Amino acid sequence: MWSHACPRADAILSKPGAGNRTPKRRTGGSENAASRRGRGLESFPFPPRRDERKETGDAPEGTPAVSENEREGASETMAKDSLTITDNRTGQTYELPIENGTIKAIDLRKIKTGAEDFGLMTYDPAFLNTASCKSRITFIDGDKGILEYRGYPIEQLAEQSSFLEVSWLLWNGELPTKTELDDFTRHVAHHTYLHENIKRFMDGFRHDAHPMGMLQSTVGALSTFYPDSKQIGDERKRAHHTIRLMAKMPTIAAFAFRHSIGFPYVYPDNELSYVGNFLSMLRKMAEPKYKVNPVLEHALDVLFILHADHEQNCSTNAMRAIGSAQTDPYSCVSGAISALYGPLHGGANEAVLRMLAEIGDIKNVPAFVKEVKEGQGEKKLMGFGHRVYKNYDPRAKVIKRLAEEVFEVTGRNAALDIAVELERIALQDDYFVKRKLYPNVDFYSGLIYEAMGFPTDFFTVLFAIPRTAGWLAQWHEMIKDPDQKIARPRQVFLGQGRRDYVPIENR
Ligand code: CMC
Repeated sequence: MWSHACPRADAILSKPGAGNRTPKRRTGGSENAASRRGRGLESFPFPPRRDERKETGDAPEGTPAVSENEREGASETMAKDSLTITDNRTGQTYELPIENGTIKAIDLRKIKTGAEDFGLMTYDPAFLNTASCKSRITFIDGDKGILEYRGYPIEQLAEQSSFLEVSWLLWNGELPTKTELDDFTRHVAHHTYLHENIKRFMDGFRHDAHPMGMLQSTVGALSTFYPDSKQIGDERKRAHHTIRLMAKMPTIAAFAFRHSIGFPYVYPDNELSYVGNFLSMLRKMAEPKYKVNPVLEHALDVLFILHADHEQNCSTNAMRAIGSAQTDPYSCVSGAISALYGPLHGGANEAVLRMLAEIGDIKNVPAFVKEVKEGQGEKKLMGFGHRVYKNYDPRAKVIKRLAEEVFEVTGRNAALDIAVELERIALQDDYFVKRKLYPNVDFYSGLIYEAMGFPTDFFTVLFAIPRTAGWLAQWHEMIKDPDQKIARPRQVFLGQGRRDYVPIENR
């Protein structure tokens, strides 16, 4: 039985004034990869290799940390890793410990004006400066435009790795050996089929149902087919359902697509690669075997790598929040898909294409940019800006290059010229420069998807499939984290004080 009885719900606040700070490199223990090899993974199905790194007191990966040199420098001016706060209401002084560049929000509660006072809280409605967890999975330096999975730069992974290898990496913390990757690939392929009732369940959707709605509800429905997925304290079961989910996402997505065009579903072909099989389920018609175009297969695999994880974004936060109630992984992923669906998150790639269509021609770009600037935030340049990146999104750079490879096969997407002009004008405009608004991952990805023949409303599904790997990696991490409790934020109550009920005839 899973029994993390006393993890903490309190969020950890970053250092005051750290909002615009560049996250520093981690100093977390760097155990030799080779020494970790071979631990715990002799057989399959497996509990994924545990991150057995001991808490060393070093800064964990993925959280703002202070380098050794900076620590030494800091120690000259600061005697202690602590924060002294004076409450001007009472004149009282408090000392709060600083750990990993954060103070614990719960420590503020001792700051009170009197015995009746609840104690001080922080107000941070969009988690602008609140760390909700410690993580070792993904590192982002938004000012420098750096993204790393488990320490590996995204550019290297996009160039040299494969999506399934990256999924393993996110989940287990290390790159797989050849045997591990072969086993993992074989097991994922083994679970690609859906129960026939799921197929019939999907038949129930209207012909024009949005594929994200279909994906979200079908993944949720999977929890009823696998009731043992509730046993989230059982590591082997968690591993098993993780593989199932990874395997079935492309099948559900492809069935949603075929449903929307009124074509028969294509069953998985497990001789093909993860992406190749997905393309086959989308495109195959009467031919006995679908012939996968290797350039498009590679391009989609790279796009999957780029989208696999992005630390504590909106949907991952939803995954962790739902999971914190010990909910099964299918229901959690279904909730995460709902968050991803929104146009400010994964739905932006769809919105970019609609925006480019609205602009229609290069000559209309300046007028459109003017409209965005004068709209006081009502109209946005979709695919621009990011909560974390205040520089060019490193994923957008890879995608821009990838677009050229794809267009050699598919023909150039005419909207690319509008997008390039939009980027050129925006990047030299004061409005965007001042606010550090750069193209994000969604700016160019939609152009590739469109060139590959995907309908616009399918774009976010192409984001959800690979992001499932990240959601699940974060979910595993959360479950094993003794600090985690059910997510339950506080509120600042500004409503009516107590009053007596007024009967309807007296109102
Ligand atoms: N176009 C025009 N102005 C913008 C844009 C934009 N795309 N993004 C932000 N701004 C302005 C915003 O109006 C605000 O201006 P002011 O200071 O005058 O009020 C300022 O820049 C700061 O923006 P914010 O809304 O406070 O920033 P945020 O961190 O809350 O929002 C965002 C981040 C991604 C939601 C936002 O930039 C946005 O809506 N972008 C367009 C949608 C988009 O492309 N989303 C995909 C994000 S990447 C994929 C993913 O991770 O899901």
